[in-house]
Amino acid sequence: MKIAVLPGDGIGPEVTHEALRVLDALRLPGLTLFEGDVGAAGYRDHGHPLPPETLQMAREADAILFGAVGDPSCDDLERHLRPEQAVLGLRKELQLFANLRPATMFSGLEELSGLRPEIARQIDLLIVRELTGDVYFGDKGTRTTDSGEREGWDMMSYSESEVRRIAHTAFRAAQTRQNRLTSVDKANVLETSQLWRDVVIEVAVEYPDVALEHMYVDNAAMQLVKAPGAFDVVLTGNLFGDILSDLASMCVGSIGLLASASLGDRQTAHGTFGLYEPIHGSAPDIAGQGKANPMATILSAAMMLRHSFGLEDEAKRIEDAVARALKNGIRGGDLGGDMGCEAIGKAVCERL
Ligand code: NAD
Ligand code: IPM
Ligand code: MN
Repeated sequence: MKIAVLPGDGIGPEVTHEALRVLDALRLPGLTLFEGDVGAAGYRDHGHPLPPETLQMAREADAILFGAVGDPSCDDLERHLRPEQAVLGLRKELQLFANLRPATMFSGLEELSGLRPEIARQIDLLIVRELTGDVYFGDKGTRTTDSGEREGWDMMSYSESEVRRIAHTAFRAAQTRQNRLTSVDKANVLETSQLWRDVVIEVAVEYPDVALEHMYVDNAAMQLVKAPGAFDVVLTGNLFGDILSDLASMCVGSIGLLASASLGDRQTAHGTFGLYEPIHGSAPDIAGQGKANPMATILSAAMMLRHSFGLEDEAKRIEDAVARALKNGIRGGDLGGDMGCEAIGKAVCERL
């Protein structure tokens, strides 16, 4: 079981360290860790946010545990040299098209959600976000128009096959849950979304046991706040999924709680090759202060054990330990508490 550990920038190394502490405490036999540079760290030491040697290490691993990338000092670099290209490059190069972002309420956090407790209590949903297409990866550029003003442009598109494979992922996920799927698009305005909707309807024929509904993304944002309990699986594109998952995190209570798995088709000895990362970023405002909540990364490590290594029991042990820690009042600054990153990591370990 080879894991490429890519801590990255800002709070990335801090939260990754605590996830490794938890993995270490499980004493899993046969685990080998390799560490690589990505993001601003990769750019500084190797001249590129995703150095070739890091990409090679990631390819040769069974799973990637990723912290976060991003550094304000790099925001003026040419786009292909910016830290964010590390995670975008890994997703694209390794064809990790299916991003699973579960959002579930934790007992004890109802009062800390951005929503009223009786509404927050109902949250148990899974966002299935397409991850290698959409406006993220279309042609883009800036130009000067005939009238002499600057213009920026980004091409949004989805091919039929891209929509079909992520739709299958979402339908199959719904079959393991409540058999309900909400496909989120903007088909009232965008051609890309109309094709998305048409293809999802075609795929639905193969899943008669799953109840499918379609929702425009603006309404979906509103409904997620109004009645998040009405959602089971939410299927959406790359950009909408990015935005809705940050929104869902605050319904649960903090962005420091939401994990993710990015999967493709490649199988490993015990599961599916994947990249696992918190949904949050490098949080430059709190980096280096030991204040970050590592739970999202710890829960991402649990998803790694489940999806890439077939270790369901161990994944559950981690998730239960995090849930119990939260129930026992273990809180970082993001949840109104005063515990630091390391203390939270240790508190989870004690409850394994
Ligand atoms: P962010 O997620 O880094 O931070 C948003 C806010 O949430 C900040 O106030 C931050 O302090 C807080 N926060 C985030 N994670 C936290 C945690 N674990 N514990 C406590 N508080 C936490 O988003 P941003 O500020 O928009 O972006 C900062 C940088 O991160 C940018 O360069 C951005 O491109 C990058 N980014 C990277 C990833 C990734 O690596 N996958 C994801 C999102 C953003
Ligand atoms: C995320 C991040 C990334 C995204 C950025 C850093 C490229 O926001 O993983 O949610 O937009 O996918
Ligand atoms: Mn995001």
